[in-house]
This record gives sequence, structure tokens and C-alpha cells, in this order.
Amino acid sequence: MEDLSLHILDIAENSIRAGATFIEIDLAEDVEKDLLQITVKDNGAGMDPELVEKATDPFVTSRTTRRVGLGLPLLKQAAEETGGELRISSEPGKGTEVVATFKESHIDRRPLGDMAATLAALITGNPDMDVAYRSRLREQEVEIDTRSIRRALDGAMGVNDPAVIRLIRDLFEKREG
Ligand SMILES: Nc1ncnc2c1ncn2[C@@H]1O[C@H](COP(=O)(O)OP(=O)(O)OP(=O)(O)O)[C@@H](O)[C@H]1O
Ligand SMILES: [Mg+2]
Repeated sequence: MEDLSLHILDIAENSIRAGATFIEIDLAEDVEKDLLQITVKDNGAGMDPELVEKATDPFVTSRTTRRVGLGLPLLKQAAEETGGELRISSEPGKGTEVVATFKESHIDRRPLGDMAATLAALITGNPDMDVAYRSRLREQEVEIDTRSIRRALDGAMGVNDPAVIRLIRDLFEKREG
């Protein structure tokens, strides 16, 4: 029962554990269809079809050698509670795409929460990895790409410098205010 931004952090942490050097996070809504769609895409190790199948079901895997994971099952549950769904496409050696859809106005749809904090945590903890974030929502339109920030900084400071993190926070606050 968490804010969506915390689910997104969980899913992105899977990407990091899979060795991703680039994570794309995209939030979009279809107002007419009352849908909110969250996409987290990475260039990490990927999963074979069998693992994809198991990854969203903690009960199937809890008695195998793999430790019980909850990140994907909890996001799946959060999506399905609203009448939405979770889809995973993955290719070993290429990467993974996780798409969660939510009925936006459903009473059980969690709020987005502090997306700036999620991005700050991802970038601070993984300064060599690139993150491209894009949200196009009524309440928030933000685009942040550490690749262009990195280019602009030209080595003067890391993308995890407190000044950069403050700038990212400001970007969100301006749009929300
Ligand atoms: N982006 C990804 N790339 C490669 N493998 C992934 C990815 N996301 C999930 N997996 C695989 O699916 C498993 C289940 O993920 P899930 O987030 O549900 O649990 P976990 O990460 O193992 O544990 P927890 O999230 O509770 O700390 C992972 O252990 C990993 O093997
Ligand atoms: Mg996880």
C-alpha cells in the first residue's frame, strides 16, 4: 500500500541489480480511457521467459532456491486492484520493460507520491548510470535526462552533486506549484 513513486524505485532497483547502465522511466495518462501507465525500461541482463513467468508470483517461487521477491508482485497487485495490469517484456542480454497500467480514478489507485525523491535516490546512489525520466500528466510534466545533464556539466561535477539533485527537486516543485 505504497505510493507509486516507491513502487517505481523498487522496480528501478531491479534494473540496477540486473546491471543496467540506462533506465527509462515514463509516466503517461490517457484521460479519455481513464488510464495511468508507468513504464520502466532498462538495458540490464534481462530474464528468460521462465523467470518472467515466475517473477510476478511470490507464491510460486517461495519454495524454490530463489529468494522470495516482492517488488513485481506488489506492483502487479497495486495495478490489478484498480482494474489495471502488469506486463513484462524481457530479453536475456538485452534488457527488460515493465509496464503497469492503472484505472486512474479508481479509489484504490495509489497517489504518485514523491517522484523527485525516487529520482534523487536513484541518481545519488548510481552516479555512473543514466536515467531518463518523463512524465506527461495533468498535475505534472517533467523531463529529466542525466545524459544531457552530464553533457552540460562536462565533468565539472557529477550528476550526483547536491547542486544537481537540488535542481531536479526544483524542476518538480515548479511544475507542481
Ligand atoms: N529489470 C530486471 N532485469 C532482470 N531481472 C529482473 C528485473 N526485474 C526483476 N528481475 C528478476 O525477477 C526477480 C523478482 O523481482 P522482484 O522485484 O519481484 O523481487 P526481488 O527484487 O528479488 O526482491 P525485492 O524486490 O522484494 O527486494 C528478481 O529477483 C530478478 O531475478
Ligand atoms: Mg525487486
